[in-house]
Amino acid sequence: MTKKETLSSIQKVNHFVDENKKLIDPSYRHHYHLMAPVGWLNDPNGFVYFRGEYHLFYQYYPYDSVWGPMHWGHATSKDLIHWEHLPVALAPTEPYDKDGCFSGSAIEKDGKLYLMYTGHVEENGKVYQTQCIASSEDGVHFEKHINNPVIGKIEVGEHAELQDFRDPKVFEREDGYYAVIASKTEDNRGKILLFKSDDLLEWSFYSVLLEGTKDQGIMWECPDLFHLDGKDVLIMSPIQMTPDKLEYPNTSSTAAFIGEVDWEKGTMTVENIHEIDFGLDFYAPQTTIDGNNRRIMVAWMQMWGRDMPTHDLNHHWAGAMTLPRELKVKDNVLIQRPVSNIYSSLEYYTGIENVVIENRTVNYRNVFFDNSYMHMVLDVSQTDEMTIRLAKNSKSSLALMYDKETEILSFDRKNFGYNIKGSESEQLTSRQTHVPMINGQLVLEIFRDTSSIEIFANGLKTMTFTFYEIEKGKDISFEAKGLLQIGSLEMGSVKI
Ligand code: FRU
Repeated sequence: MTKKETLSSIQKVNHFVDENKKLIDPSYRHHYHLMAPVGWLNDPNGFVYFRGEYHLFYQYYPYDSVWGPMHWGHATSKDLIHWEHLPVALAPTEPYDKDGCFSGSAIEKDGKLYLMYTGHVEENGKVYQTQCIASSEDGVHFEKHINNPVIGKIEVGEHAELQDFRDPKVFEREDGYYAVIASKTEDNRGKILLFKSDDLLEWSFYSVLLEGTKDQGIMWECPDLFHLDGKDVLIMSPIQMTPDKLEYPNTSSTAAFIGEVDWEKGTMTVENIHEIDFGLDFYAPQTTIDGNNRRIMVAWMQMWGRDMPTHDLNHHWAGAMTLPRELKVKDNVLIQRPVSNIYSSLEYYTGIENVVIENRTVNYRNVFFDNSYMHMVLDVSQTDEMTIRLAKNSKSSLALMYDKETEILSFDRKNFGYNIKGSESEQLTSRQTHVPMINGQLVLEIFRDTSSIEIFANGLKTMTFTFYEIEKGKDISFEAKGLLQIGSLEMGSVKI
């Protein structure tokens, strides 16, 4: 397409978005989690700190609340909590991206913002994925590079099939630019390729960074590689990772591979691998580094192959991003905490201290709202079983349980609101994860936004879930067998 034609197709999409966003049914819309103005959203893309603002792009199909030919939606924020929608940045307009501008990343060079994305083409039943560049002077309007694709069959050679070759994450090192790109081996194992460039426009194959084993999934999507706290961390989203004890029961998972990259050879030695989030709705995380040198991660707060109630109910939207989380590496484990900016938006309204609950249930009425926040310090050292019921209505609740013996924390959305079926062979309604007590305590931080819950447990584990309540439930309760001591319980809400 000529520049003028591209502009007009972008204008057409933006016009459609403006005209149709009023159709949205707000019942399940979030307060402070980023969603598209209308239509379908999946992966975070192009997460970058540019000219003092965070830019977050996303996989976007504005025309329906299901996945379709991908565009890049775009939003900016000064604090990662308040988001402003910008015009659609990329639309599938060229022969090399005609069936979708798939996931990718962003980087600043010489004051300009560059996007690197996958051009997706389907022809005669075959898929071709190549890597493309678009750039912008103002961070709003993007022009696709005249020599796109910048990585295609010639550059990739025999190292991957173009059928599964996507999701470039670009980054800079002293000696130039690199991109990690997802692919797979001929016998269906994940494979991450490394490419190198001096100018972001001409790329050459550098190395195979890492190949997976049979148990580690048939394809690795959305890789991201960064150095943090003395370690190299590769995060990615494996499809069909073999479940291992409490990890990877979802068909599509996320995993952190922690170790060291040998940059001479371009290979990674992995010292530890673990799942990133222990919920049912967390996928395709991407990170950026900001002006304060914080490594921040955002993920798609949904999952492939699951029912999408907001689509089924004709609410004209589907998909949201998680709360941005700051990352650290401790003892070869990736640790997440809510981005600190969120605390400036918190309003506390109740604090409870030193409540002893012994073989009984204590209810707190009318305290669990759409945008509730809770911080609790629980002494569980003498608690045989504990269940915290959240969003409790006359019939059901979301259940958060802890077992002192096994130190397993579980979250269950069974029989709560709309039933959400997925591609897993058995319906998954709950997840469990091991959370060691710290001095007999369990410290939980819970962020609820209208239809999501994000739980941070003992600063070690996170669990992210969506849920779609039918009857509003504003109560919570603590049920204990044995003796549970609530050291403190602070309740509040995130105000936007
Ligand atoms: C991950 C993913 C990516 C792809 C994009 C398409 O969720 O499958 O691999 O680029 O979504 O929307």
